[in-house]
Amino acid sequence: RVQRLNLHWSRQVNHSFRYKSRIRPFPYFSSPNSFFQTIKSTVQSRAYSPQQFYKNRILDQYVSQSVNTITLRQLVVFGRNLTEDRLLKSGNYVRTELPIRLAHRIRDFQNLPFIVGTNPHIAMVYDLYWSAFEKLRKFPTITNLDENDEYCDTVKGLLKEHLVVIPQLALGISECSQHLHPDQLDRFMNTMLRSRISRRVLAEQQIALTENWNDPGYVYGQDGHDGYIGIVSTQCKSGEIVQRCANMTRNVCRTIYNIEPPQVLVDGHVDTTFAYIPDHIEYMLYELLNNSIRGVMLKFSPSLKHVSEPPELLQQFQKLERLKSPDISKDPSSIYPPISVTISSGPTDLYFRISDQGGGISDEIYPHIWSFASTPTLNNKFENFVKVPQMAAKVQEYEQSIIPPTLHLGIGLPMSKVYAEYWGGGLTLFTMDGYGTDAYVKISRLGNREENLE
Ligand code: COI
Repeated sequence: RVQRLNLHWSRQVNHSFRYKSRIRPFPYFSSPNSFFQTIKSTVQSRAYSPQQFYKNRILDQYVSQSVNTITLRQLVVFGRNLTEDRLLKSGNYVRTELPIRLAHRIRDFQNLPFIVGTNPHIAMVYDLYWSAFEKLRKFPTITNLDENDEYCDTVKGLLKEHLVVIPQLALGISECSQHLHPDQLDRFMNTMLRSRISRRVLAEQQIALTENWNDPGYVYGQDGHDGYIGIVSTQCKSGEIVQRCANMTRNVCRTIYNIEPPQVLVDGHVDTTFAYIPDHIEYMLYELLNNSIRGVMLKFSPSLKHVSEPPELLQQFQKLERLKSPDISKDPSSIYPPISVTISSGPTDLYFRISDQGGGISDEIYPHIWSFASTPTLNNKFENFVKVPQMAAKVQEYEQSIIPPTLHLGIGLPMSKVYAEYWGGGLTLFTMDGYGTDAYVKISRLGNREENLE
């Protein structure tokens, strides 16, 4: 085991499957002896080797630079008036921003208590970040379209490699909960996740703009392909987006439980159009509707708690589009009380209220719902908190494929809050223990709020 750990610390990370064998519960050390040997090797290879010393000096230079934040509106305006020169400019902006944003997070890892850094899942993400940082900082200035294409290919590879980051972080953090104060843990996770969203937005926007530019059928000066400018949709429709997420959640629940899930009734300002990154809003609405629908089903049919996911579910998730598609329900009736979604559009903000009769959240659990830390007592009581070995098995199962929405990492609610606040919105929950819960999502309609990285 020690050998395996040493090997891990001394090499570069290329592919996630290498880590599969290391998914195992805490503690990792078979004896105090192996613990000290491991520490010695870590200290030597990670902290005090001359190579590491120079790497950290370079990191310092990047950490000393601050991040240049952007707004959704800037993404839209810049992408709408794209020229070759602007595409290269934005390529170089991304090229300089990504290593700075990564460097700050690598430093956060270094500031964690030592024992947390030795957790294999945390160490894996740390190594992935170093490897990406080195690759990105060494990429030379982009001076023409071919170099921009090459840059996009590099970034595409990294985006794929980093798909494992969230499940690995969630696993690592739950294994290390006892070594971190919950506030410190939450601060770390919030910063990590915000920064990750920011890097992926920059990277994906540059890739999408480049793909549009290389597409001969693409007409600039207009919002192309269904109103998309890069990854930003300028034509998000409030009602449609809720319906899409409701269909998906209901399709998933119907597949798992083999019974008609509660209906989702949408009212209010269902025709409001706004500019947003659909993935961001879909993540929150899916998560909240999923909590509501499952909450209602489990409250009224407690025997469903023992139903396990059918094995064919993974194949279905690989065709995510099918689940996003119109509701596959054949039978519109449901024995459950419906979920009600009300949309309200104000001059600057758009609100979604999701109300369910799923029994609410108890006083014991409510104070912890926004925390990334899980505790053994909560694990047993709240469906959203998952036991570590269970989660590890699932992460392992799905690591090579897309991360499907059924992979409950137990971080859905705090993660939705991160998404809601990212572009200046918010997420609040009011609950009536014994009856149900109302979730309020607020998003900024104007797109003039800067990325929320703090
Ligand atoms: C991430 O997904 O965590 C990233 O940092 C992606 C970026 C390197 C393009």
